Amino acid sequence: MGYNTFNAFGCEYNEEKLLSMAHSMVEEGLVEAGYNSMIFDDCFTQKRRGEDGELLEDPERFPSGMRALTDKLKTLGISASAYSDAGYKTCAGYPGSYGHEEQDLETFSAWGFDYLKYDNCYIPFDAVTQENVYGRYERMAKAIAARAVNMNEQPFVFSICQWGWQNPWVWAKRLGHSWRINGDIKPWWESLTAIIDNASFQYWATDFYGHNDMDMLEVGNTGQGDPVGNLTYDEAKSHFTAWALLKSPLFISTNLPNATQEARDILKNSDIIKINQDPNVGESIAPFRWGSGQLDYVSNATHPAQYWSGNSSYGVVFMLLNTLDTPQDMFFNLTESWAIRSGRLYDVYDMWTHTHNGTALRNMTVRLPPHGVAALLLSDAGPEPEPSALGLPYCAIYWQCTWPNGTYYSN
Ligand code: GAL
Repeated sequence: MGYNTFNAFGCEYNEEKLLSMAHSMVEEGLVEAGYNSMIFDDCFTQKRRGEDGELLEDPERFPSGMRALTDKLKTLGISASAYSDAGYKTCAGYPGSYGHEEQDLETFSAWGFDYLKYDNCYIPFDAVTQENVYGRYERMAKAIAARAVNMNEQPFVFSICQWGWQNPWVWAKRLGHSWRINGDIKPWWESLTAIIDNASFQYWATDFYGHNDMDMLEVGNTGQGDPVGNLTYDEAKSHFTAWALLKSPLFISTNLPNATQEARDILKNSDIIKINQDPNVGESIAPFRWGSGQLDYVSNATHPAQYWSGNSSYGVVFMLLNTLDTPQDMFFNLTESWAIRSGRLYDVYDMWTHTHNGTALRNMTVRLPPHGVAALLLSDAGPEPEPSALGLPYCAIYWQCTWPNGTYYSN
């Protein structure tokens, strides 16, 4: 969790802006909420290397020097994260680290960074690399591992940015702590649904050791680059909920002093953050039904899966997402989620209203606004009463349900 400069500022940032952002993060309680790392994305060095091939600081934009700046951030409780590229140049044309892996890592470390986002622009010809995308990223992964051993220090966190390229769970998971599953996020609904659709087929790749990176949080983005984009309040809640419960890295990229109170409150939802940061359960929630008449497990970039669930240290998690442009009653049987036990009652806690909303018996219906979300935590509330006394069938789902003598039960 943390902050990333790129979607808010592109290349237009400097020491003053970063420090004001950091102070804002502290004052707003965002650091305390868990956003405790700041990614200096593209453009923070000079555009040329030094005489020994080293990366150079930019004294105009960072007059106090990189180390002094990252030290200041640390006093505010924020660690510093660097950005580079597995090619000749970064995407914005600054020096890339291909062929300079160890040297650049040494520089980043000296400047006080402990995390590296690694992009995929300006790559060398095949005849030069003779090693494919895996090999280009493996060079840096090896440099990170070697440095950690040699220096007897924690390895850099390695965040692979290859825009979903080439089934990342096959290769990037071997090398890094996270990998992008899509191109760059945009601050509008269709971009969010396309990413959620991708994630609905890849959620299983996420665990404690590696995470699908769904890209930065656009909540409250007053942004650069795509000024026409914006999200409604309900869309911003859906965005944050999906990113957090699918255990994506959570990096805010908003010009915070301009963000609305609503946006800040979304980003600080501690009930949802604690699922993202669950110390015992590393997996993402998973879709159990697409809904709205759609076939399950069929990709649909504008209408991704709507019914999701998974386990957590705090109860069974449900995420319901209304992908329609009209309000919708979202109905589900509790046992559609693997994490639910049949024959039990469940206390229902709403992670957006932060209230307990009674007890669920077998199924639930939740009304959601267009593009709205529900994030629920269900906790065991004891056995359900005798079904016949309630006029309920003995089994919620009849198929293969039998009496002890083996005859099929039918309602
Ligand atoms: C893109 C990357 C963005 C940002 C940008 C910097 O390739 O996906 O997140 O890092 O480059 O130029």
